[in-house]
Amino acid sequence: MPKGYGFLAKGIRYKTLHCRKLTHEAKKILYIVVDKKKQVGLRVPLSILHQVHAQAKQTLPTRRAATEKRDAADIGKAAAELHSQFPKIPEKDKEKVLKHGFKKHSGRVGRTSSIPLSRKVLLAVIAHVRHQHTTYDTLLSGGEDRDMARKKTRKQIETIMREWGFKEALNKPIHENITFTETALACPPTPSLHYKRLAMSNNQIKNIAIVGASGNIGSQIATALLAKGQFNITAISRAESKGTFPQGIKIAHIDYNNPDTIVKALKGQEVLIITMGVLAAPDTQTKLIRAAAEAGVPWVLPNEYGMYTSEEVQNELIGPGKAKDRQLIEELGVSSWIGVVCGFWYAHSLSGPGLYGFDIAKREAVFFDEGTEKLNTSTFPQVGRTVAALLSLPVSSQGSTEGGPTLSDYRNSRVYTSSFALNQLQFRRKNAMLKPGEQLKGGNRMAFGKVLYTRYFFPGDYAGLYEKIHGLDNEKLGLPQEDLDEATAEVEARGERLLETIRKTLRA
Ligand SMILES: NC(=O)c1ccc[n+]([C@@H]2O[C@H](COP(=O)([O-])OP(=O)(O)OC[C@H]3O[C@@H](n4cnc5c(N)ncnc54)[C@H](OP(=O)(O)O)[C@@H]3O)[C@@H](O)[C@H]2O)c1
Repeated sequence: MPKGYGFLAKGIRYKTLHCRKLTHEAKKILYIVVDKKKQVGLRVPLSILHQVHAQAKQTLPTRRAATEKRDAADIGKAAAELHSQFPKIPEKDKEKVLKHGFKKHSGRVGRTSSIPLSRKVLLAVIAHVRHQHTTYDTLLSGGEDRDMARKKTRKQIETIMREWGFKEALNKPIHENITFTETALACPPTPSLHYKRLAMSNNQIKNIAIVGASGNIGSQIATALLAKGQFNITAISRAESKGTFPQGIKIAHIDYNNPDTIVKALKGQEVLIITMGVLAAPDTQTKLIRAAAEAGVPWVLPNEYGMYTSEEVQNELIGPGKAKDRQLIEELGVSSWIGVVCGFWYAHSLSGPGLYGFDIAKREAVFFDEGTEKLNTSTFPQVGRTVAALLSLPVSSQGSTEGGPTLSDYRNSRVYTSSFALNQLQFRRKNAMLKPGEQLKGGNRMAFGKVLYTRYFFPGDYAGLYEKIHGLDNEKLGLPQEDLDEATAEVEARGERLLETIRKTLRA
């Protein structure tokens, strides 16, 4: 680091622009930090960096309000266009089209800037009708290829569009009216001819495979799935694994060096849940994804289970691996992915020394700036309940008049869950025995865990408070409100257990 300079990580546009501008105006050198050919941030004169951090904090409420106003205006325009093209669209469908097709950061048709609004609205409605009001998803689940499923549902879509007041001429069938790029945007990849998807017996998931059923989060998910009493659950586990599994789960041993063993274990499964230890080789998940496609598994929940605010910040912190794996799932064209976003795990992060800034063994707390920045956090059981509730949803809304959520609503997208939105001061109140230690200003990068946590405590732009950006699915999934005191009660015990394990390891 050049003397008198500080590091600004890539990710917050406001800070990057102002650091660049002020350094330029001061006629000082600005360093661009590159890692593996990708820009990861800037080195900026410290005085300017501090000024920009302070300015960003001060202007945050105004900037947030402006963004919200702009977003509301965009949605307002889309709503007006929707009403003009489809004056008789039912209110609940209107809401879904706007919420789903135009969801921020979703990558869906409503968010692209490459086609005009009238076209975006038309495509968003077609995609909505196809998935929500026709047999399309059921046909795909039954092994029908995509083109045939489209042909078979064309008339149903056109009929509904007319019922909703669409007046323009459809001189060609809908799918021929739309260019290739538009089709890709309106309808993300679905199974190709090369693979036959598993025929689901009905509109409900039954067979679930899980990697890591003996692990931290996997065991919670497996337990919650078992509690539903409606799934056949198979643990996919290495032959050499020493893991112990909840009772009632079938175990399939696999060898990551022999992909056939994975394909065999996944045959007949409708969902593959991957929870993988952080030390596993990076291509382990890739092998599972390829095997899932070969075995025709329609849904994959890849190894996520953490924070997600934007693709940019995720890549900046943990590299492009997760994004690449999601992309691979889409490219293989057989499975669809659903990412579980749960924030940092509450007990894990509060009891792991230094993560949320607390060291239970030393009875010490370290604050990130003033300790007032909030982030979303989830308990282990809540993550388990989220996955169990998600996989209990009907696969599609076909045949249902209730209009409730379906699994297909989350196709190639994320489910957002959270137990609490808290700042460090609130953690501290619940941990009265802890006393504040030194102040840690945003930049201590001694270890990966600290970098990761520190980044999400950065002030501004809801760094770790994803509920403000993406909303939460708790209510849709019927998740309970949790009690913070109860959740905290297990933290000290967990911290002491961790300490005891470390002591034992050192003694051995
Ligand atoms: N939000 C948070 O605060 C937070 C914290 C930590 C992790 N996470 C995320 O959650 C994911 C799961 O973490 P976890 O702590 O639940 O995992 P974990 O308990 O450490 O491990 C899960 C499973 O991974 C398998 N595994 C372990 N090492 C492996 C290796 N070298 N090769 C192949 N398989 C291996 C094991 O299954 P078998 O023995 O049955 O084969 C193990 O049961 C992480 O990857 C990370 O993305 C989130």
